[in-house]
Amino acid sequence: MAGILDQIEPLKQAALGDLRAASDISALEQARINHLGSHGKFTALMKQLGSLSKEEKPAAGKAINTAKVELEAALVERRAELELKAALPQEPTDFTLPGRRRTLGKLHPLTQVTEEIVRSFRKIGFVVADGPEVEDEYHCFDALNTPADHPARDSQDTFYLATDACGQGRGGETGANGPLYPTLSPSEVERERRGRPAPCLLRTHTSSVQIRAMETQQPPVRIIVPGRVYRRDNADATHNPTFHQVEGLYVDRNVTVGDLKGTVEFVFKELMGADTRIRFRPHYFSYTEPSFEIDFSSPLTRKMGKEWLEIAGCGMVHPQVFQNVGYDPEVWTGWAFGFGIERVTMIRYGITDIRLFYENDLRFLRQF
Ligand code: DAH
Repeated sequence: MAGILDQIEPLKQAALGDLRAASDISALEQARINHLGSHGKFTALMKQLGSLSKEEKPAAGKAINTAKVELEAALVERRAELELKAALPQEPTDFTLPGRRRTLGKLHPLTQVTEEIVRSFRKIGFVVADGPEVEDEYHCFDALNTPADHPARDSQDTFYLATDACGQGRGGETGANGPLYPTLSPSEVERERRGRPAPCLLRTHTSSVQIRAMETQQPPVRIIVPGRVYRRDNADATHNPTFHQVEGLYVDRNVTVGDLKGTVEFVFKELMGADTRIRFRPHYFSYTEPSFEIDFSSPLTRKMGKEWLEIAGCGMVHPQVFQNVGYDPEVWTGWAFGFGIERVTMIRYGITDIRLFYENDLRFLRQF
């Protein structure tokens, strides 16, 4: 059956032609099936080998194999070409087009307002101080003259932690300006006596940093403390278990309520507009005496249907607090205040739900 040898070359050429002509991967696959598949034309030729005589078989088998290797190489080559073609862009690239920019993010509204507050206080000589968010009861309460039965100390109101790591180093370490931490307070002494370390908690206010600052430096002190605080509040339109405060502390000789009022007025006019008025109402805080709540009035409060809105707490630093940090209350006088950054931001922008600050919804955040 000399015919087989004659058929190899034309069948091979036909197969090569089809493979090379395939214009995409699926056409190539179809060509492979037609020629090399189990019912393909070239495969049929191989099946005929069996019917050849012993003498004819070796030469024919060799020729068919050589052709088959050539076809398979052509298949691989064409497949690679077509795959590359499919991966290339359909349209030519225009290198003269302007580049695509990443959209620039912005600072969170709370960060923006915090920075503005800091900027205002810097103008009048205040510096930013910082303290730990995991605090001990001494700095959060005792040193601030806050009695053991004060509601803020109740576990219903405050996040206590199952660790005493916050009490580390107290009493022993020494910083550049003297002891870093005070000796134990009376309530701590009592606790130690009973063999229990002072509890750790998430600070309920930034006032704890007043104590830490005064422990590490001598007067005069002029600091503000922006920072996060924690309370066991259920989230609603005006409450969130974490929020932010700014604390202020000024200690020097002959400091008066007039200084306090003037400072607060200056900063709130900067923050809320030049036509802002403030007033002090008598109040009680255990770490100040006398103590006040600060209300303010401006077109913003009127927009919210109120002439006056409560905005901050403040007062003259209590002599006991000075004593707790080793300042002589006969020599030093001072004032302190604290207010919520969320509240200021909400009033300023007319935001009616505090939770919007924490949801990270870009539709909200892009407005600031
Ligand atoms: N710590 C108070 C609070 O969280 C705010 C405050 C009131 C801070 C009076 C002060 C102050 O420094 O003197 O509500």
